[in-house]
Amino acid sequence: MVDRIMPEPFRIKMVEPVTVPDRSQREKALEAGYFNMFGLRSADIYIDLLTDSGTGAMSKYQWAALMKGDEAYAGADSFYALKEAVKEVLGFDYVIPCHQGRATENVLFGTMAKAGDKIPFNMPFDTTRGHIFNVGAEPVDCVIDEAYQPELQHPFKGNVDPKKLEEAILTYGKDRIPLIMVTVTNNSGGGQPVSLENLREVSSIARKYGIPLFLDAARMAENAYFIKMREEACKGMTLAEILKAMMDCADGITCSAKKDPLVNIGGMLCCRTEEMYHRLLPRVILFEGFATYGGLAGRDLEALAVGLREMVDEQYMAHRVAQVKYLGDLLDEGGVPFVKPAGGHAIFIDAKAFLPHIPQKMYPADVLSIEIYREGAIRGIGLGALAFATEDENTGELILPKLELYRLAINRRTYTNCHMEYVAQSIIDVFRRRDSIRYGLVVDYAPPVKGLHHFLARLRPVQL
Ligand code: F0G
Repeated sequence: MVDRIMPEPFRIKMVEPVTVPDRSQREKALEAGYFNMFGLRSADIYIDLLTDSGTGAMSKYQWAALMKGDEAYAGADSFYALKEAVKEVLGFDYVIPCHQGRATENVLFGTMAKAGDKIPFNMPFDTTRGHIFNVGAEPVDCVIDEAYQPELQHPFKGNVDPKKLEEAILTYGKDRIPLIMVTVTNNSGGGQPVSLENLREVSSIARKYGIPLFLDAARMAENAYFIKMREEACKGMTLAEILKAMMDCADGITCSAKKDPLVNIGGMLCCRTEEMYHRLLPRVILFEGFATYGGLAGRDLEALAVGLREMVDEQYMAHRVAQVKYLGDLLDEGGVPFVKPAGGHAIFIDAKAFLPHIPQKMYPADVLSIEIYREGAIRGIGLGALAFATEDENTGELILPKLELYRLAINRRTYTNCHMEYVAQSIIDVFRRRDSIRYGLVVDYAPPVKGLHHFLARLRPVQL
């Protein structure tokens, strides 16, 4: 059942015209981009749901704040504006700006982890895995088993299984575990939240073994909203209070500010102690910039400071999550299988269930990307074998991921509910003709770097 539509809590001040490319233009675009969604040009797309990262619309307050940007190399006012917003919204005393989320990962793992280390996670996202591999370490997935069952309803499918976590610590030994990390919400597992109760439990395990706990906090405010809606003990709390309580569990966070903090570029590392702050700074200076700007302009820091406060606006967040759910409800009515319940930032279609006749090693999630683009000039992204398959170290055999998902990420404050209806209709049309999709994909080229295949792969359809 589709719930009542929640109307947009904003009006449109400036429009960005988009056109619908005709079918022959779409075919040419697919060929030119080697059938990889990252190879398409924006001009060839009507609705672009490739990512919710850096693609949102800033508010008039953020645009106004850009004008206050202090571009001093060191000690800029804009850094202190950010520092104040971080303290107010998240409670951390130390913030290190970085140019985006993966830069914070480079700083964190490059500083804290070394070859042979293990990093227990609920689940890391692709660039996060990439950075862990890059230092010769490995992530250990400790998410609850329910996360791997797309149709199963569970309020907190992003939760860490505390037993798996303790087992990992005991198996590898705490000396090989420089930190524990939890992604909120869990992007790779369907944008699913982690409960406050679970975060507190993970935090106490981390403390018991003396291992720092970091959150990958890109979608922390969406996670806080789900806690407010679903966790009995938190019903009376404000979104802002819940977010602070989540942060209280952690020693630090990495954050792509291109998601919940509502900016087009930016990231930040936050931590509690001066000791940790000083440990992290040298790598920031090597790769990002001085400690008070970290690869961003002063104006970016100002927009981020405003975005951090806006992300905990209850009306904004209620609409955001409802819009994603609205798309999910429409797809559900059409029988399209997706990860239940709807995620905070995206709908993740279960490509294995949508195209069961295409073997996973022929990338059904990416076939779905192609077909949905063909149908509606809509761009989503496959997050399955192409992104997450690994090779057995000894045999070289392909290890396929448990989930084969196709993601429709909803940009913040950008598309209307009517756009969602068009997306749902196009996908339901593909679903109706799914049996006639009789091809899989092979990889003609992929970069020789572990974890980055899907970004640069050249794909070729082959008949089944
Ligand atoms: N962590 C999570 C959970 C992410 O989803 C991303 C990016 C990053 C870290 C890296 O941040 O892009 O600013 O460098 N996710 C995007 C996505 C790209 O489409 O989900 P970044």
